[in-house]
Amino acid sequence: MTLTIVDHPLVQHKLSLMRDKSTPTNQFRQLLREISHLIAYEVTRDLPLELCDIETPMRSMQAPVLTGKKLALVSILRAGNGLLDGVLELIPSARVGFVGLYRDEETLQPVQYYFKVPDDLQNRVVIAVDPMLATGNSSVAAIDLLKQAGARNVKFLCLLAAPEGIARMQEAHPDVDITTAAVDDCLSDIGYILPGLGDAGDRMFGTK
Ligand code: URA
Repeated sequence: MTLTIVDHPLVQHKLSLMRDKSTPTNQFRQLLREISHLIAYEVTRDLPLELCDIETPMRSMQAPVLTGKKLALVSILRAGNGLLDGVLELIPSARVGFVGLYRDEETLQPVQYYFKVPDDLQNRVVIAVDPMLATGNSSVAAIDLLKQAGARNVKFLCLLAAPEGIARMQEAHPDVDITTAAVDDCLSDIGYILPGLGDAGDRMFGTK
């Protein structure tokens, strides 16, 4: 597993604003959109290019373009949708899937309620998105489901990760690379990331 921390100053600045509890929902959403562009830039860094013949207004040239390697973005509901929107703006032709999992507040275990993904996952680079890698239980369960559906090349994109979640992913899915904006200190006794930013879904949708 490769862990990439996107430590660009713009990402770190926007993340600090998102962490601040006085940041209102509309600004939180806008920041998430902006930051997701920047981390999507990093997660797509190794997409293959090929040369294509084009004519500029001046002369012909061979210009690099994406090979058209097939991508699928999979949002782990519901907070994943906030990241998904921004990533899709950069990769508008990607296919999109959704995995619905909620966290049982007592056991902290994921419970599945929805699963809909493109049917040719085995031929795609699959980027699973969820802003918070906390216990890792939901992310691991979502990737289990994606692999059962045929996915062979999965990357995981998040905003914040806890060391516990990274360890859990490494143990369950050592082949899955993780890209995140920061690795925080630890988990609280109810499985929240510390210092974190609170409940990402609540912060982005204005719920409590
Ligand atoms: N999910 C969240 O939204 N926040 C956390 O801190 C942990 C899991």
